[in-house]
Amino acid sequence: MTKKFSKTIMVTGGAGFIGSHVIRLFATKYPSYHLVNADALTYAGNPENLKDIEANPNYTFEKADITDEAKIFELFEKYAFDAVIHLAAESHVDRSIMDPLAFVKTNVIGTVTLLNACRKYWKDKMDGKLFYHVSTDEVYGSLGEEGFFTEHTPYDPHSPYSASKASSDHFVMAYHDTYGIPVVMSNCSNNYGSHHFPEKLIPLMINNIKNSRPLPVYGKGENVRDWLFVEDHARAIDVIFHKGRNGQSYNVGGFNEWKNLDLVFLLCRIMDQKLGRPEGTSAELITYVKDRPGHDLRYAIDATKLNKELGWSPSLQFEEGLEKTVDWYLDNEEWVKHITSGDYQHYYKDQYEQR
Ligand code: NAD
Ligand code: DAU
Repeated sequence: MTKKFSKTIMVTGGAGFIGSHVIRLFATKYPSYHLVNADALTYAGNPENLKDIEANPNYTFEKADITDEAKIFELFEKYAFDAVIHLAAESHVDRSIMDPLAFVKTNVIGTVTLLNACRKYWKDKMDGKLFYHVSTDEVYGSLGEEGFFTEHTPYDPHSPYSASKASSDHFVMAYHDTYGIPVVMSNCSNNYGSHHFPEKLIPLMINNIKNSRPLPVYGKGENVRDWLFVEDHARAIDVIFHKGRNGQSYNVGGFNEWKNLDLVFLLCRIMDQKLGRPEGTSAELITYVKDRPGHDLRYAIDATKLNKELGWSPSLQFEEGLEKTVDWYLDNEEWVKHITSGDYQHYYKDQYEQR
């Protein structure tokens, strides 16, 4: 019997922000791969993110919680996965400060559950299998004014989110060393682009500027983040998935550092133009609010290894990417409306009313 697909890949968290871009890229670029999106559809998971490819013959959705061992084992039996690209996570630092245990459950126990499935179902033939763990630069902690995170920077997480991601990274490498599971890992900086849930800085500010609501800047807005267009991250995952060396981690970032306040001013300027408002109108909405506890000062990724070894580099300049992103949000009002009604309102109230 000939196999219908050359590879069957479980993508966890494929209904989220980055996962949906990864699935879109792989499903269209590799028609011979079968992409099985295993997602619990938490508040951050949205099947609408994949509306354009949901009818593709090489795409399947499975509602599954990665902490549910029976369900995960059932999927491994059903599909005999060749690879896992693991993106499912609780991903928001502010939520991790409100409820750390939810992060331990999904990010640590969920990851170990997936690794146990690989161990069980791949034990007779590890050759040709791959567990790809998508992680974050936040595991490295905070930089001062100078320097960059490299793959050798010691882990030093400060938030419950980054502590849970650091723990999951260690489990991935431990399963590689102990059980011989083929793994690759990447640690990426802050992503931006379409389909980003509007509790994170950029989509929250776009939504608030559009609705002339206050723009809550934590502390003095001096924290620095290194921003990468999400489609460039998906391209990096593609390259690392196909060419990354077994047992290695790769840093992903755009050498694109911005102070939060400067970024918010830039967004205000872009949106004043697009909305036909006099320049400076939106910036008047900026409101300084109480800082995030344990707020990391600066992230900056050195992506030299990925560039030199695998030839990846970012494709977009930041202002171009931001304009594209703003256009997407302005053109997709319904998408925003669906997710900002209901629970989002409660979250927003709890997060910002007391600040
Ligand atoms: P997201 O919050 O937008 O999406 C997470 C997805 O995981 C959602 O679809 C959600 O339904 C799903 N999920 C959550 N808990 C689950 C569970 N228990 N079982 C199954 N599915 C579950 O996250 P994102 O921003 O797309 O991030 C994806 C990954 O990339 C995460 O691992 C995150 O740590 C990492 N990362 C994110 C960024 C960023 O800037 N967003 C940067 C670097 C790394
Ligand atoms: O660095 C990679 C990480 O980037 C990912 O691992 C995380 O999943 C992702 O959420 C992101 O984490 P950050 O905490 O950096 O992203 P966030 O968008 O929450 O915040 C970006 C910066 O903006 C941070 O310094 C806090 C600040 N901020 C955020 C919000 C939501 C504000 O000033 N005001 C806000 O309302």
